[in-house]
Amino acid sequence: MTAVKTETSGGAIEIGGLRKAFGANEVLRGIDLRVASGEVVCVIGPSGSGKSTLLRCVNLLEEPTAGTVRVGGVDVTAPDVDIDAVRRRIGMVFQSFNLFPHLTALGNVVIAQRKVLRRGRAEAERIAREQLEGVGLADKTGSYPAQLSGGQQQRVAIARALAMGPEVMLFDEPTSALDPELVGDVLGVMRGLARPGEGRGMTMLVVTHEMGFAREVADRVVFMDGGVVVEEGPPARVIDDPAHERTRTFLSRVLDPAAARVGETD
Ligand SMILES: Nc1ncnc2c1ncn2[C@@H]1O[C@H](COP(=O)(O)OP(=O)(O)OP(=O)(O)O)[C@@H](O)[C@H]1O
Ligand SMILES: [Mg+2]
Repeated sequence: MTAVKTETSGGAIEIGGLRKAFGANEVLRGIDLRVASGEVVCVIGPSGSGKSTLLRCVNLLEEPTAGTVRVGGVDVTAPDVDIDAVRRRIGMVFQSFNLFPHLTALGNVVIAQRKVLRRGRAEAERIAREQLEGVGLADKTGSYPAQLSGGQQQRVAIARALAMGPEVMLFDEPTSALDPELVGDVLGVMRGLARPGEGRGMTMLVVTHEMGFAREVADRVVFMDGGVVVEEGPPARVIDDPAHERTRTFLSRVLDPAAARVGETD
């Protein structure tokens, strides 16, 4: 199963001195991060470290307090930026799929193409079928979300994002709400997107706790804690031989959850 890659390249993400505060709570405290075109970067880190906020600042779901974010060379934090135009270039997949329950899989992939990109029905449906086929759901185009497993719904959400022809894709814990047996199919789609059989892969910034996926697919792993990047590097280095104690502690909890539960108070 290989996701259909749309005509995308040239999309790189450059984050410089990014800060975000909610009131007195400074959640991002100066993030510098670059994702080159076609590169896959996995972000890991404890709950509350600012991973989702980082992604949300990239597509302007949150307004950064300071710093710059460039996507494909365009400064999305410029005061005169067209937010809708920015969001069209960035696909985002969340933990919750947020499909319309009254629309079929096909309808869910068609609707934003029609409303946002103003594509005609025939073209939007053709692209939707291609993308649904790409995520392994050619036989589910007529199914409603309630008739699909969580993994299938998440793959519809990925197809929906790809149908918009994004330059970059952001994933925020796309498999963490899924039953374990459904995780593999979603990760398989993401792997196909990152490493297509031909051509350059999608530029991807992925928040995940799936260390096997990070190890195999990521070009780089970034460990965040307390709103800063503590360390980053090739997956084998960061995951198997972390330089920082905080990274080691986090990884021991993620890689061996049973051991982490020992000593919990309740
Ligand atoms: N809209 C908001 N208003 C106020 N505080 C917020 C808002 N969004 C996030 N925060 C705070 O920012 C901090 C970082 O949250 P964020 O969701 O980015 O963490 P995370 O690393 O994604 O955590 P998790 O692994 O649990 O998803 C938290 O302390 C959170 O309470
Ligand atoms: Mg989060």
